Amino acid sequence: MDVDVGDVAQAAYTGHLPEWSEVESLVEAAHRRFKSDADGTVADYIPVLAQADPELFAVCVAEVDGGVHTAGDIQVEFSIQSISKAFVCALVCQEYGHEVVRDRIGVNNTGLAFNSVIAIELNDGHPMNPMVNAGAIATTALMPGATPDEQWDNIVSGLSAFAGRPLTVDDTVYRSEADTNQRNRAIARLLESYGRIELDPLAVVDVYTRQCALRVTARDLAVMGATLADGGVNPVTGQRVVSAGVCRDTLAILAANGAYERSGEWLFEIGLPGKSGVAGGLVTVAPGKAGIGTFSPPLDAAGNSVRGQRATAYLSRVLGLNIFASHAHTLAAQRKDRA
Ligand code: DON
Repeated sequence: MDVDVGDVAQAAYTGHLPEWSEVESLVEAAHRRFKSDADGTVADYIPVLAQADPELFAVCVAEVDGGVHTAGDIQVEFSIQSISKAFVCALVCQEYGHEVVRDRIGVNNTGLAFNSVIAIELNDGHPMNPMVNAGAIATTALMPGATPDEQWDNIVSGLSAFAGRPLTVDDTVYRSEADTNQRNRAIARLLESYGRIELDPLAVVDVYTRQCALRVTARDLAVMGATLADGGVNPVTGQRVVSAGVCRDTLAILAANGAYERSGEWLFEIGLPGKSGVAGGLVTVAPGKAGIGTFSPPLDAAGNSVRGQRATAYLSRVLGLNIFASHAHTLAAQRKDRA
């Protein structure tokens, strides 16, 4: 479909958060409200993740002016897992641009689980989008670097710049997944068979597995999200990480695919781009306003943190973040009142 409208300036999404003290108390309220919600199941297909404490719960909002609001187990580190896909996607968008990501990786939802093999078969070997495992592995393969080690260094420094602090790998999580990720290796081999990966597929899966094992806190996720909300500048460090256009493209991909086959429901309830990880992390982005980071290990059937989604849906409502929500324009409303 050709949707090119030529050289037309893009208008910005506008509006702002409520006052500091109100955001502060609403973040605490989100934590209080869902603290004893025990729905969902902790992931166990990566053996070590089954040991996670289901009670842990953290909520964080990082504003684009650099202010950070926190509640709950904010100091607890967990593996970033699939949330890394969003930020590696941004780094690859930065390197190659809009068209290459759209054409080589894709931007459309599979309607199937994040680790689906059949989705690859049904789409002629196309990886479909950077948020499912096939597309994420194909995206990691595009990371700049002449060797897997160089690609890895670029991922660590890129994701650390998003977080505003040096991120490190959880070796236990990395080992546990590397020992049991036959499915991801099969996905990479399948992509290779369709000519969709030019590098050694197993070396790419190894880098991908490491990126998923990077340790973060809910605060890190909020700051990473706030960087995407802030046109690519980390609001805490002031460092430009990616361009504003890359943020726009990454957020569109997240809106369509961030919660996999449940992305429609996610958008319907929350109205913001977001991304989940199987260790229980969740990042959500309110463009021009804030990043939201949550952590709670129990997941729904699609692999998305249950309490994280509920706390985020609550914050989206009370903070007025849903990008689809509008009020009648004053003039139009006045005309209607006069009629
Ligand atoms: O590749 C995997 O299966 C994991 N390292 C990441 C999956 C994941 O986080 C799915 N998200 N909710």
